[in-house]
Amino acid sequence: MRRRHFSDRGDRILDRNPVRVGRYRLFTRINHWIIAASTILLLLSGLAFYWPSLFWLTALFGGGQAARWLHPILGLVLAVGYLLMFVQLVARNIPRHDDVVWVRHIRDIVDQNEDKLPTLGKYNAGQKFVFWAMAGLILLLLGTGVMIWHQAFPDLVPVPARRWAVLGHSVAAALMAMTFVLHVYAGIWTRGTLSAMTRGWVTGGWAWRHHRKWLKEVAGRRD
Ligand code: HEM
Repeated sequence: MRRRHFSDRGDRILDRNPVRVGRYRLFTRINHWIIAASTILLLLSGLAFYWPSLFWLTALFGGGQAARWLHPILGLVLAVGYLLMFVQLVARNIPRHDDVVWVRHIRDIVDQNEDKLPTLGKYNAGQKFVFWAMAGLILLLLGTGVMIWHQAFPDLVPVPARRWAVLGHSVAAALMAMTFVLHVYAGIWTRGTLSAMTRGWVTGGWAWRHHRKWLKEVAGRRD
């Protein structure tokens, strides 16, 4: 039998008709939505700082000063939340040979010819990409963010380094916005996925169609 990972608590076949398969327990889901909410608020306040024409967005936070104060704190919330999710899900997101085969069949993925695709474990290569891209970008945003957090760390780095940090922070934020759009689009496009993160389960049919090895593993588990 394959080793059980920390992230798998709550993965089980539920005795319902049609069959449901538990995918995320409550803790993981709450943490995921805290991450999602903090990311959206960070993007909105960040956009307001970046483009003068979008400065009005700071009204959502109670004005420019409040937004400037809140932005780095939300960044810390995101970093801690993502660290927890990272530790939970990392074992399931290690790239495997199946991922290479899956990516080679990108045309069949778009055409929804599932029968031509390899059977997969809990995540596909697209989900693994989002997982690692978000991890790298959050790390970069955290590092550069601390460098430009003048109120908390006024003399941490010299001015030229701070200028580079501002550039790095903006580039990482733009890449994160793109990854975010990709993630949300994929979650909506693959019908039946959202319930994994809202209610904690997917249907047996969804699991069979998209993550058959994971389903077989969960079904074969005696607990
Ligand atoms: C409104 C925004 C969001 C929606 C609707 C959403 C939706 C979802 C859904 C439905 C899943 C379950 C997918 C599955 O298990 O097959 C998921 C997983 C996940 N989400 Fe989100 N999400 C959002 C925002 C975010 C953000 C901002 C991040 C990171 C900063 C994020 C990171 C992840 C990660 C790492 C997973 C685990 C699957 C993977 O490795 O890709 N999500 N999300």
